Amino acid sequence: MKLLVTGGAGFIGSNFVSYVLANTDDEVVVLDKLTYAGRRENLAAHEGDPRFSFIHGAIEDRETVDRAIAGCDAIVNFAAESHVDRSIDEPDAFIQTDIFGTQVLLEASRAVDLPRYLQISTDEVYGSIDEGTFTEESPIDPSSPYSASKAGGDLLVQAYHRTYGTPALITRASNNYGPFHYPEKLIPLCILNAFAGDKLPVYGDGMQVRNWLYVEDHCSGIYTALTRGEVGEVYNIGGPDECPNIDVVKRIVELTGCDESLIEFVTDRPGHDVRYSLSSEKIRGLGWQAQTSFDEGLERTVQWYRDNEAWWSPIRSGDYLEYYKRQYGHALNT
Ligand code: NAD
Ligand code: TYD
Repeated sequence: MKLLVTGGAGFIGSNFVSYVLANTDDEVVVLDKLTYAGRRENLAAHEGDPRFSFIHGAIEDRETVDRAIAGCDAIVNFAAESHVDRSIDEPDAFIQTDIFGTQVLLEASRAVDLPRYLQISTDEVYGSIDEGTFTEESPIDPSSPYSASKAGGDLLVQAYHRTYGTPALITRASNNYGPFHYPEKLIPLCILNAFAGDKLPVYGDGMQVRNWLYVEDHCSGIYTALTRGEVGEVYNIGGPDECPNIDVVKRIVELTGCDESLIEFVTDRPGHDVRYSLSSEKIRGLGWQAQTSFDEGLERTVQWYRDNEAWWSPIRSGDYLEYYKRQYGHALNT
């Protein structure tokens, strides 16, 4: 296959490109706007590979999408604004990319009768669950502008499938972590702060639970759904372990050897979902299984950040520091 991977310069997209090039004979075309979260460096290992090419552009730009889609067999759409805290501050870009951009991709797919369209979505569209586990039948009930924009994208995919017969399907994954994760999200932010001896900010009481999925396991799940899933269906891809945030941060303290006194409880996120929990039974029926426990994956992730200062050091400057100050204010002065 020749895959159009939109958002392929971001965290999960770039890991997926590496997964595909390493494990299949497929070709990959990446289309990416290179926002603050998208980085050509994430794809550096593939420059010069004849099965890989890159187009700089936005998914909401129909002309660029038409050019990118030519000769492709499938779209795997990772492109999104992806950070909940930024969506609370400035939701506009989330609507533009996650909803409008998705619709442009669906229209372009329809125009060329693209054989397959896979929308990469999130468990956050289901909202929060105190007890039990979300299945694909659970109602959509998003809490943040981010999760609402992702739910909007999902509903458009479903509508295009039902209305126009677009051969589209959706995967919804739980929280990812691993190499190339932009350090605004909990795990990479705390790892890099721990290295620097900066505070580790924990929202509220830190008892919120996330269902952690190592990014490589997510990539194999996406490829399974792409090649073996049924169109019109949703497939959840959940991690093997659930963990309260405070335990995640304490584990990072242990792995980095920093002082536990760096942990700082800060003002909670508005509309903070208390718990995510995802059943992966349906995609396990296609032969997928998560391979990496949270303990093992977190250890590997800390080691990756130790070994890749050249990747993260330029990020922790300029715009990032401005964002950091805006988000955490003076709560984290060390
Ligand atoms: P990310 O923010 O690291 O990467 C997003 C990528 O999309 C970047 O390369 C960015 O440049 C690109 N992009 C943004 N707007 C664009 C536009 N208008 N046109 C083209 N490219 C654009 O995000 P991520 O964590 O890699 O997430 C990828 C996808 O997976 C998203 O759709 C997200 O909702 C979903 N997801 C993420 C997680 C997670 O834990 N990170 C979990 C489940 C699902
Ligand atoms: P995050 O990595 O932003 O992912 P999401 O909001 O998509 O789940 O946050 C993971 C959890 O960690 C979430 O419950 C919010 C919490 N959190 C903190 O406690 N402190 C932080 O500085 C950040 C960024 C997140």
